[in-house]
Amino acid sequence: MSQDALMNTYGPRSAKLVKGEGCNLWDDAGNQYLDALSGIAVCGLGHSHPGVTRAITEQAGTLLHTSNLFAIDAQEKLGARLRELSGLDKVFFSNSGAEANEAAIKIARKYGQDKGIHHPTIVTMSGSFHGRTMATLTATGNKKVQTGFEPLLSGFVHAPFNDVATLTRLVESNPNVVAIMVEPVQGEGGINVPAGDYLNQLRELCDKHDLLLMLDEIQTGNGRTGKYFSFEHNGILPDVVTTAKGLGNGVPIGACLARGIAAQTLAPGNHGSTFGGNPLCSHTALAVVNHIVDDGHMAAASQLGEYFLTAFKETLAGCGKVKDIRGQGLLLGIELTEANAPIVTKAKEQGLIVNLTAGSVVRLLPPLITNQQQADTTIDIVSRIIKNL
Ligand SMILES: Cc1ncc(COP(=O)(O)O)c(C=O)c1O
Repeated sequence: MSQDALMNTYGPRSAKLVKGEGCNLWDDAGNQYLDALSGIAVCGLGHSHPGVTRAITEQAGTLLHTSNLFAIDAQEKLGARLRELSGLDKVFFSNSGAEANEAAIKIARKYGQDKGIHHPTIVTMSGSFHGRTMATLTATGNKKVQTGFEPLLSGFVHAPFNDVATLTRLVESNPNVVAIMVEPVQGEGGINVPAGDYLNQLRELCDKHDLLLMLDEIQTGNGRTGKYFSFEHNGILPDVVTTAKGLGNGVPIGACLARGIAAQTLAPGNHGSTFGGNPLCSHTALAVVNHIVDDGHMAAASQLGEYFLTAFKETLAGCGKVKDIRGQGLLLGIELTEANAPIVTKAKEQGLIVNLTAGSVVRLLPPLITNQQQADTTIDIVSRIIKNL
């Protein structure tokens, strides 16, 4: 078959992957690949995980969908589990990350309107990525994502990432600001890890000015950084957290969690989704979350992440092509000195799937179940390619 019938939103796509097991993938020509991308931070438990497959088949043979006009047992259980893991109060389920962020944006606007701010404004960061819907692409701090889709929405302003002084000035000079929305580690923007106390400072700023702290944990959540949510590294509680990607391990589901006033903001008729949190997705996601938490994958992600960072820093020490090596858990980036290096193709030729983001950052998002030998293979292939660029 050809891709003729498909809109050209993704550019040319190469390998046609037809099978996956654990950290391995196979294409339609029988070539095997080691997966160091997890379908962009989705398949944390790898491919064909028996517990996930069991949950999907169990639910598919029982009840796929009812709509949110009816109570959904698995949705209630998943909500309770996420509440317990996050420390937040309430959850709204969506089908994707962008939609989880839409819910967060609506909460922030309603929170502002309810307190008499009629042009509520959300501060987001330069270099951020929050999705492709009109509101989330407006929130995104990257002109490339926005160009051609003007007019953008009003009610968003951007501040530099990891710069609390500038953000404070912006907040203090604009009485319409109601929320700060930020990724704990910027993913698409190049695996940008902020200062250790960045989120704590944002929490203080939000407390001082009565703003909602809204964390986009769509890429950083679900064990990827070594904790269930990345904000746990800072010992703070945000007002709103969004997640998706790894929550369903490939089954499409997103979540917007909130606490305090933010959790009470939306009332019946304010928001909804036909599919959001349906029996199939909720039952599967509950199995995914339980495996991530109960099978030790968060501690493993933390340890293996350290191993990757140390190994890359050693093997690439003194390499003129490398500007920086950084990450948190299994969210790893190697920033190169040149843009658009053919790293993805070269790695694929050697049976490894990686990604390049923000033009010059090699992004590694290996499944949380990656073992030491698979990590060594990844380190070896990536380091050799970079040295020979
Ligand atoms: C931080 C972040 N927010 C939002 C999104 C959008 O998620 P989705 O593609 O599921 O709509 C992404 C996707 O890459 C992301 O990384």
